[in-house]
Amino acid sequence: MTADELVFFVNGKKVVEKNADPETTLLAYLRRKLGLRGTKLGCGEGGCGACTVMLSKYDRLQDKIVHFSANACLAPICSLHHIAVTTVEGIGSTKTRLHPVQERIAKSHGSQCGFCTPGIVMSMYTLLRNQPEPTVEEIEDAFQGNLCRCTGYRPILQGFRTFAKVCGGPRTAVALLLRQQHSGITVGRDAKGLYVTEKKDKMASDQVLLLQDGGCCGGNENNPNCCMNQNNHKQVTLSPSLFNPEEFMPLDPTQEPIFPPELLRLKDIPQKQLRFEGERVTWIQASTLKELLDLKAQHPEAKLVVGNTEIGIEMKFKNQLFPVIICPAWIPELNSVEHGPEGISFGAACRLSCVEKTLLDAVAKLPAHKVEVFRGVLEQLRWFAGKQVKSVASIGGNIITASPISDLNPVFMASGTKLTIVSRGTRRTIPMDHTFFHGYRKTLLGPEEILLSIEIPYSRKGEFFSAFKQASRREDDIAKVTCGMRVLFQPGTTQVKELALCYGGMADRTISALKTTRKQLSKFWNEKLLQDVCTGLAEEMSLSPDAPGGMVEFRRTLTLSFFFKFYLTVLQNLGKEDLDDTCGKLDPTYASATLLFHKDPPANVQLFQEVPKGQSEEDMVGRPLPHLAAAMQASGEAVYCDDIPCYENELFLRLVTSTQAHAKIKSIDISEAQKVPGFVCFLSADDIPGSNKTGLFNDETVFAKDKVTCVGHVVGAVVADTPEHAQRAAHGVKVSYEDLPVIITIEGERGYNSKSFLPQSETTFHPLKAKALKLLFNLQDAIKNNSFYGSELKIEKGDLKKGFSEADNVVSDWTHLSELYVGGQEHFYLETHCTVAVPKGEAGEMELFVSTQNAMKAQSSVANMLGVPVNRILVRVKRMGGGFGGKETRGIVMTVAVALAAYKTGHPVRCMLDRDEDMLITGGRHPFLARYKVLDVGGCSGQAVGFMKTGKIVALEVDHYSNAGNSLDLSHSVMERALFHMDNSYKIPNIRGTGRLCKTNLPSNTAFRGFGGPQGLFIAEYWMSEVAVTCGLPAEEVRRKNLYREGDLTHFNQRLEGFNLPRCWDECLKSSQYDARKKEVDKFNRENCWKKRGLCIIPTKFGISFTVPFLNQGGALIHVYTDGSVLVNHGGTEMGQGLHTKMVQVASRALKIPTSKIYISETSTNTVPNSSPTAASVSTDVYGQAVYEACQTILKRLEPFRRENPGGSWEDWVMAAYLSRVSLSATGFYKTPNLGYSFETNSGNAFHYFTYGVACSEVEIDCLTGDHKNLRTDIVMDVGSSLNPAIDIGQVEGAFVQGLGLFTLEELHYSPEGSLHTRGPSTYKIPAFGSIPTEFRVSLLRDCPNKKAIYASKAVGEPPLFLGASIFFAIKDAIRAARAQHTDNNTKELFRLDSPATPEKIRNACVDKFTTLNILDWVPGTACSIALKPAEGSGGLDMRP
Ligand SMILES: Cc1cc2nc3c(=O)[nH]c(=O)nc-3n(C[C@H](O)[C@H](O)[C@H](O)COP(=O)(O)OP(=O)(O)OC[C@H]3O[C@@H](n4cnc5c(N)ncnc54)[C@H](O)[C@@H]3O)c2cc1C
Ligand code: FES
Ligand code: FES
Repeated sequence: MTADELVFFVNGKKVVEKNADPETTLLAYLRRKLGLRGTKLGCGEGGCGACTVMLSKYDRLQDKIVHFSANACLAPICSLHHIAVTTVEGIGSTKTRLHPVQERIAKSHGSQCGFCTPGIVMSMYTLLRNQPEPTVEEIEDAFQGNLCRCTGYRPILQGFRTFAKVCGGPRTAVALLLRQQHSGITVGRDAKGLYVTEKKDKMASDQVLLLQDGGCCGGNENNPNCCMNQNNHKQVTLSPSLFNPEEFMPLDPTQEPIFPPELLRLKDIPQKQLRFEGERVTWIQASTLKELLDLKAQHPEAKLVVGNTEIGIEMKFKNQLFPVIICPAWIPELNSVEHGPEGISFGAACRLSCVEKTLLDAVAKLPAHKVEVFRGVLEQLRWFAGKQVKSVASIGGNIITASPISDLNPVFMASGTKLTIVSRGTRRTIPMDHTFFHGYRKTLLGPEEILLSIEIPYSRKGEFFSAFKQASRREDDIAKVTCGMRVLFQPGTTQVKELALCYGGMADRTISALKTTRKQLSKFWNEKLLQDVCTGLAEEMSLSPDAPGGMVEFRRTLTLSFFFKFYLTVLQNLGKEDLDDTCGKLDPTYASATLLFHKDPPANVQLFQEVPKGQSEEDMVGRPLPHLAAAMQASGEAVYCDDIPCYENELFLRLVTSTQAHAKIKSIDISEAQKVPGFVCFLSADDIPGSNKTGLFNDETVFAKDKVTCVGHVVGAVVADTPEHAQRAAHGVKVSYEDLPVIITIEGERGYNSKSFLPQSETTFHPLKAKALKLLFNLQDAIKNNSFYGSELKIEKGDLKKGFSEADNVVSDWTHLSELYVGGQEHFYLETHCTVAVPKGEAGEMELFVSTQNAMKAQSSVANMLGVPVNRILVRVKRMGGGFGGKETRGIVMTVAVALAAYKTGHPVRCMLDRDEDMLITGGRHPFLARYKVLDVGGCSGQAVGFMKTGKIVALEVDHYSNAGNSLDLSHSVMERALFHMDNSYKIPNIRGTGRLCKTNLPSNTAFRGFGGPQGLFIAEYWMSEVAVTCGLPAEEVRRKNLYREGDLTHFNQRLEGFNLPRCWDECLKSSQYDARKKEVDKFNRENCWKKRGLCIIPTKFGISFTVPFLNQGGALIHVYTDGSVLVNHGGTEMGQGLHTKMVQVASRALKIPTSKIYISETSTNTVPNSSPTAASVSTDVYGQAVYEACQTILKRLEPFRRENPGGSWEDWVMAAYLSRVSLSATGFYKTPNLGYSFETNSGNAFHYFTYGVACSEVEIDCLTGDHKNLRTDIVMDVGSSLNPAIDIGQVEGAFVQGLGLFTLEELHYSPEGSLHTRGPSTYKIPAFGSIPTEFRVSLLRDCPNKKAIYASKAVGEPPLFLGASIFFAIKDAIRAARAQHTDNNTKELFRLDSPATPEKIRNACVDKFTTLNILDWVPGTACSIALKPAEGSGGLDMRP
């Protein structure tokens, strides 16, 4: 049979594809076939939104054109027949005109690395096409399927809120805030409309903002206007405006591209069956129901594909092949929506967005008692994936996938939803009850049957329905447990007529608690029923301790917690109906337990110091200049490594990695790989012309030769003609192993919570996986096996013994062994590692385009592997889509393989790691284990904190262990930094910190923003909070008391100069209204039993410098061309942090020319050689100074021409110099002075200076589910005199949100054999739009010039990350309130809470009757009798915590 032509439109242009392959996704087609590379690949699994496009089609049923967003990575091109695709390139460009959406995200600083930006632009664009005047809520909802790792989301939302109907004027909010915060200070506007504070009286003098007039010379000149000169104080202008909305182009919906008229003309032409034949798969688009049923009879094994959100994942990530795919998307019966007498019936191919809209309309129109079930479905859909998935995924697809953690199936099962199932000649309608799913991913459907429609029933009078879901992250996450609950009462009573409790996440299928519910018929809705149901559920919903999915206690507790919530919700509703007294009564302090967390209107404030009056308009230093590439990033024009157009004859590489954590390689068989079309070659260690040794310390291999030491260890590589063929061939390479003993953990039982070792991913429900779990308890750990790199690292100061003996006698728990585990973190830069290698054909020359922070190391590693001098290898870096330390060293394993492939084949070779490979291979932040004990008096030493009754710390000893993985990489320096930060900001007279690096069979862990600092700081704050608790003193008082003072020496004997931390602290305490809010929090906690709030303020002090002194150097090369334009080169790389923008600002001020004359093209090893990695936050400092030096050289050379022609222009002087044969090219170099710490002598400076900050966060936790909401965060950050407040605030917010992820959200899970399970956004949750604090206030400390860095600025990249821990400690505070309620108000109880504080840990820590029922007393079959013993005198189950 011949294949049909596929016809669709892209950005208004018709595309006719004669050989449409069903395996080709729209994303691959756009990028490779059409050359439209604005749409990005971030994950390939619908989880990040980087690939978002808008699809438009004529909807025959609705008789109108519809626009919706979709993930191009999941959309097969075959599904696009007669559809119009709009990509980011189709809406605007810097060459013509940016679309207002593109303009606003760029100008509001919502694009840092920019890799997520096109996807976010397209989500917003699609919303505006459907709703030109959206509400703020609609804007926030539009981004549920988009992730950004850089910005912290606030600027994106703020920029886009300007499209909202009622645009909440930030200025008004700020004015109010300032009035509140600066009581005693008049807040007014200056001539420009900016907010200005004025000194009003003496009392408020600390609030008066100071400013110095004039420009800045970095304190190097005798300049009366110097910003270092604090004598000439005038009032500061405080700006809350990082952008001016008045500059924005208006949105004009009439200007949008029209729907292709050709497609519109087709609307009345009948659709006919289509067939597309690919290399391995046939796609048949059925046009009628009869055709569909005939096809299914012909091909019973065929899959029906609607949204492909399930099948697409199985094909890509589970390597499954479905040779015949039938698409039913056009069939009217499968797309219809009918309002019947008993409910609303949806065709099985109806998209979830259609279901959502229909039910929302019904809820608005119908009486409340009829829409209880609809509300339940809507509640599940609210947190179900993003718009992109909901717009394409079908309701039938969700049901038939039969996932045990489907969110909809428990709701359908509990509500009595009816399913109509048809095949050729048969039709049956059945209720979706407990018999429908009869095994893991198995339904009652026969092979020839299809699901035709789903009828969701109206609820009846006296019927109540609720749905609950708990996941790691509220937005777009797979449930841990999900459920639908329904009760129907006998008319006019509270006597149960029907009760259904259905759960997902508690078995290998959706299940109903039949045993429990049957017993409740005719019972009254009161405490007795609650008690019985909990008893029943505890037994019926039991999971064995090694149940697949882990988190056993948490999941079991959730089944009870959800029912308790349902019980209370129904009580609340019954209360409204005023029924008889057989019914329980709702305790008012329980009422908030029924409330679900919703999004509240955000309130954001960013404050920074305006540039001094009189600063030249052209001088951009200190101004919020947008990232210079932001507009190109927003329009999709910015070129990332994989956007470089394909070379002729280019080949593609795929790595072959180990599946074993520690094993001998017995053999490698490539025969299957060779059969794959397009296979070119397989590369192994034997092909390497130079050295197979690589890694920072030559302790790694390019390709494993005899032995593998982690899952993900690179064994070889396959080269083929397409990425798809390379992937298939790589899967075909079979490596056989002989297992060796494995070490995975620092300390297995404690370091990793063994019971939550595996994620609750549905694949782990597979019976075979259960077997693997048994191995869990045989884990070996590094400490037990003495498996370490090198010897112990140590910093010691004072006399520990004396310190401990001087400590006061304070109340403490002698037996409490304090240990703390800080989990690792995946970088999750949106752009994965990528390299393109181009062999030059002579003298061993090779040019490489690499997404790396470390061009020098990539260059030398390739040269070493090829056995050529370094001067033959050129590495070029245009920009990265995020780095965060992950692109400092670990990408080299792939870069050298690509270089080898290019060398061997003589062709250009490309590799961009898939997200799952990237996460598997490249390591992340080091997990840490710390040991110490909160000590009372007695002189006992050994891992302890000694302190006085007042809370003053006198002695500290902490042992730190990190999980370094299978190579040393940067682990030594990471541990050094952890030890340097073990004091956080506190003066500890007697101290000893030790560090050991555990050698394990995990992929090598590496640099990650903060570089060990966050771990060390976190441990410090942890024991500090325990000291405060033990002393019974307010934590903020104990912290403040222990802060260093100006001139103090740290524990590594560095003097603190310009110690601005107390200022940050006091300002943050005041601006956050800490004291008043603390009272509010206490009041809230008294009034609410099951929701608790916590408030915490913490400081940070972060050392600035590489701790390895030689790395603290930087070079620059500046060329001035005869037209006056300037090309700046420097050794730093741009990864979104705005380094190039800041360098242009520096050059602009130094040369006194506008930024528009200056350009930075890329970073390359042949312009500035031997550059240190762009890391340690120091790049602005070192390259800024190097650029400054180069500019000075140029200026000196131009000086004679300027003197000769003082009225001339920059261009005149440049041309005159050129004509006089004066060089217009200059280098600059800078090395950071006075560094050189010695661990032996504990002397010498470890750092050039410190950056300080303070954060205060408030959270609310749901004690029943472990969910939490970040209510408000206030940050005050000292970044010196900011070079660019927009970029600096962006760094503060972005780092804070990354820290929030580290400490409360992101969790890596490994199999017992050391294989990473969390390999993509579906299982590894980084913060999303909804994760940020509802109120997010950031201010840059005013008037704090730093004389040690360029133009008085300070480094900012890493220091704010730790402040995310303020959320963790606020959570711990809230948990303490919950536990105190349970323990006679014992607020001095110490309890362990490891990082991250996930819902599982929060729930398990909020010990109450439900957790007790499930964990402590649980013995199968006996739990209930113990746990449900009525509380004395209560006469029933006391459900108070
Ligand atoms: C990023 C992302 C987030 C997600 N989030 C969630 C979530 O929060 N909660 C949740 O429950 N799920 C979630 N899912 C799962 C998925 O979206 C749903 O299961 C979706 O409804 C599947 O629909 P589809 O049309 O895309 O299915 P497809 O992939 O097209 O098909 C899925 C299966 O259903 C079968 N099928 C489809 N229609 C019929 C029919 N009419 N008759 C018989 N068989 C049929 C197919 O043969 C196939 O086996 C998510 C998926 C992704 C990719
Ligand atoms: S690349 Fe498509 S959603 Fe991530
Ligand atoms: S700007 Fe969003 S991921 Fe970098």
